Amino acid sequence: MSDLRKIIIDDQEIEVDGAMTLIQACEQVGVEVPRFCYHERLTIAGNCRMCLVEVVGGPPKPAASCAMQVRDLRPGPEGQLPVVKTNSPMVKKAREGVMEFLLINHPLDCPICDQGGECDLQDQAMAYGVDFSRFREPKRATEDLDLGPLVETHMTRCISCTRCVRFTSEVAGLTQMGQTGRGEDAEITSYLGQTLDSNLQGNIIDLCPVGALVSKPYAFTARPWELSKTDSIDVMDALGSNIRVDTKGREVMRFLPRNHDGVNEEWLADKSRFVWDGLRRQRLDRPYLRGADGRLHPASWNDAFDAIAKVMKKAHPAQMGAIAGDQVDAEALFALKSLFDKIGSPHIDCRQDGAKLNA
Ligand code: SF4
Ligand code: FES
Repeated sequence: MSDLRKIIIDDQEIEVDGAMTLIQACEQVGVEVPRFCYHERLTIAGNCRMCLVEVVGGPPKPAASCAMQVRDLRPGPEGQLPVVKTNSPMVKKAREGVMEFLLINHPLDCPICDQGGECDLQDQAMAYGVDFSRFREPKRATEDLDLGPLVETHMTRCISCTRCVRFTSEVAGLTQMGQTGRGEDAEITSYLGQTLDSNLQGNIIDLCPVGALVSKPYAFTARPWELSKTDSIDVMDALGSNIRVDTKGREVMRFLPRNHDGVNEEWLADKSRFVWDGLRRQRLDRPYLRGADGRLHPASWNDAFDAIAKVMKKAHPAQMGAIAGDQVDAEALFALKSLFDKIGSPHIDCRQDGAKLNA
């Protein structure tokens, strides 16, 4: 049963479901509230405090808009609608304070950070922060985690938003990540130094609002503003995930998910996310001939076709067969079949897994 409530956000009156959080209600009226830990597909943590807003008539301190529901707001003494402000002096000061606080231990190594140019912390520090810090003490140091070959970690950059922990436990179904310690000793770790087992782990790269978790295969290869972005559909599994292909010149640099609520939401499996390096590395891009020493040697196409013709001319058609791979296009298959029809061999097949055909 819906529980519609009227509230006023920055002078705009709106009627929303009382179960909505204030940050969601703000989105409904097109008011942007900065956030780090809040993510609409994960549970609410309320630990970064970047989403602070002023609730008029409420306690005389800013409130975390991601953790407060519209139905928690009280009307004024004469029944006035509850009022939320996102642009008041109190909110501005609170945001500046939170940004300064978050940057106390952040290494500010943007020039050598892969997240540079697409970093929430960088963007929000520009938009809502101040250009000074009162903190002179040494920054805290943390050891980087080894999460495996896909996700690279720089844990000094972590702002403990716990998005990675919530994603791995709530969506990927792993209990391998967590937070230990308190205060300055709080650290995101993987339990007993384990590497991640999930084949959805690449999503924590997108979720991390800073450069603490970045893509290992893509590391230091491109900056976001150098990339051309093309929308596409993934073909690596049967899901048909919506993806974005980022290219630099002629080279594909990475695949990222695109949101589609009916298909992949905003996640992408690791096979689809990291398959791009196979487009240019370790490809069979020239013919090889086996020499008298039993080893394969690079050869020209003419040499390769001469060698094939020599063997085929000597063989009886019944001794020859053609086996086609799973990913061969229809034109090449047709050309191969025509060749074997001409030769007079009936031995053609494409069922490498031995699948049965109905006679
Ligand atoms: S590693 Fe990134 S996603 Fe995980 S808690 Fe730290 S900042 Fe958040
Ligand atoms: S976004 Fe609300 S506390 Fe982090």
